[in-house]
Formats: sequence, structure tokens, C-alpha cells
Amino acid sequence: AFPSLDPIVPRAAASQPYEAPGPGDARAPCPALNTLANHGCINHNGSDIARQSIIDAFQAQFGIEESAIDLALVNAFVVCEYVTGADCGTTLKNLTILAEPHAFEHDHSFSREDYMMSYLPDGAAFTDNQNFNASIFQSSLDVLGGSTHVNYKQMNQIRLQREALSLNNTVPGWFVESKPIQEFEAGFIFAVMGDFNLPKYNVTPKIRVEWWNYWFTNESFPYELGWHPPTVPRGSDFVLSASSEVLAARVKSTPAPLVSGAVGTADAPGTLNEAVATTTYQIPTFEPYAAAGVGGADKR
Ligand code: HEM
Ligand code: MN
Repeated sequence: AFPSLDPIVPRAAASQPYEAPGPGDARAPCPALNTLANHGCINHNGSDIARQSIIDAFQAQFGIEESAIDLALVNAFVVCEYVTGADCGTTLKNLTILAEPHAFEHDHSFSREDYMMSYLPDGAAFTDNQNFNASIFQSSLDVLGGSTHVNYKQMNQIRLQREALSLNNTVPGWFVESKPIQEFEAGFIFAVMGDFNLPKYNVTPKIRVEWWNYWFTNESFPYELGWHPPTVPRGSDFVLSASSEVLAARVKSTPAPLVSGAVGTADAPGTLNEAVATTTYQIPTFEPYAAAGVGGADKR
């Protein structure tokens, strides 16, 4: 079991209001960083972000402890140096560099396209692997068949489904499985979107689908749906435990195609793809999703 809830009264609304990103604002392939930026909890323009401001914002706004993001921060600054060609010190150049494909960003995301998909439009060099994509996310939710909550087993089924669909739609030779990083992200979703109204919240958390959907779609906090961050901040112990539970959960059915080794437990979570040391790609400069006037543009 995880630490039980203490009597801290969570706030009832975000500390700062949502403001949609404009075309000049950088956003990430990460729904959590984008949420923080949309609420001005880290720089709203998504650029020159102080490392410490990310730590403080996750703690205060999402109830996520530094221990849970230390590895992600290391990885982000590795990507920053790799993409910019210079040590980024303690200032992340912008959120968009995180979309460098096959680095931290990976294929078969829950809510984003892969960088190279077979339906790439004529003339386009790559697909949008950065912005929220409603139909990709729907292909994740479809696995649930309408259930209101997601348990570990269902999350494992979702990620296998995403792997199979990606592999089916990839440019031959592109697809690389990134199980450890994705499972870490699954652990993050259990950490922040777990339904604290359920009796077994502290033993076996389940994700409340309407909160998850609101968060990803709007890149904003689902306060209006009764959400608040965990009142005992979640650390790496929680995230690692949830992510190994997901991978270890026995699924009902195995989708096809899958790469060998897709089913079952993974390597140490969070390792960056080898490709970081070998290849650079063009980084997307697509307008942030919400700036393009879709999804969460008018949501608070
Ligand atoms: C995805 C970076 C912290 C939630 C991603 C991705 C990156 C990233 C590069 C793209 C991976 C992909 O291709 O899907 C970071 C960095 C963090 C951080 C640098 C901290 C310094 C967090 C936290 C949460 C979170 C604390 C939740 C509380 C997610 C989720 C995804 C994701 C759920 C998967 C999105 C999807 O599959 O569609 N993050 N992240 N991240 N991140 Fe973060
Ligand atoms: Mn991705």
C-alpha cells in the first residue's frame, strides 16, 4: 500500500488560470508539461525553462515529488544538449526539443502519432509526434469498452494495442518499441489521475477515465470534474511500482502485430533510446494543438 491520505485540504482550482498557447509558444509531446505551461506554472511561452521551476510546479500543481521526475529531468537535459549542440546547464531551451524522435519521445504513444507513419501526407517530411491527437487517444480509450476506470491490466492492454496499431501504420523500418519509458508514463497517469473516491485508492489505484480524457484533451487540470492532485505527493516509489504492475498484469488478449518481447516486463524504466547517440531528425514546428483552435482552446 502507498502512504494513506493526510488531512491536507487540496485547493479547488488551479492557482493560475488556463491560457491557450499562441502560435509562438513552444509545447511538448508531454501532456503534463503542457498543462503546467498553459497555466503559467512554468513559462507560458514554453521556452528557457528553469529546471527548478519544473520541480516546483510538479510538486505544487500535480502532487508529484522530485524523486519521480529526476530521471525525466536528466533525460530532458541530455536531449537538450543533443538537439542544441550545447550543454543546456539548468535551463531547458524549450519544450519542443523534447519531440526529437526516438530519443525521449517514442513511438506508440497513448495520444500522439509517431514521427514516421505510413499515411504521411505527400510532401510532408514527418508526422506530428508532438501534439495531442484525438483519434490516436480514442484508439487507446477504445480498449476500455466504455468502462469508467482503468486498472493495471487494462493499461497493459491499452499499451499493447497502441504498439500493434503503430506497427501496422509505420513506415517500414521506423518503429522502435519503447516499453520502459511508456510504462513510466503509465505510472504517472496512475499517480495523478487515480480516483481517490474509490475505496482501494491507496492499494490498487484506478485511473478515472473522464479525468484522464479531460487532462489530455484540454491540457488543463480537470478541477471542474471534481479532481485535485494527490494530497500526499507521489514519488518514484509509487510510479515505479505502478509501472511494473502494469507490465506484469496478464492481458485478456494479445493484439497483432507485436515485436518480440512486447508482452511481459521490461528493462530498467526510463532508459533513453540508443538512437540519441546516433541520429538527429528535424524537430516539428507545428503550432501547439490548442493554438490551432481545436481541443482545449476555450477550456478553463
Ligand atoms: C510523455 C517529458 C514529467 C506525463 C512525455 C514525453 C516526453 C515527456 C518527452 C513524450 C513521450 C512520448 O513519445 O509519448 C517529460 C519530462 C518531464 C515529464 C521532461 C519532467 C521533467 C511528467 C509527469 C507526468 C507526465 C510528472 C505526469 C504527472 C506524461 C504522460 C505522457 C508523457 C502521461 C504520455 C503521453 C502519451 O503517451 O500520449 N513526457 N515528462 N510527464 N508524459 Fe511527460
Ligand atoms: Mn510519441
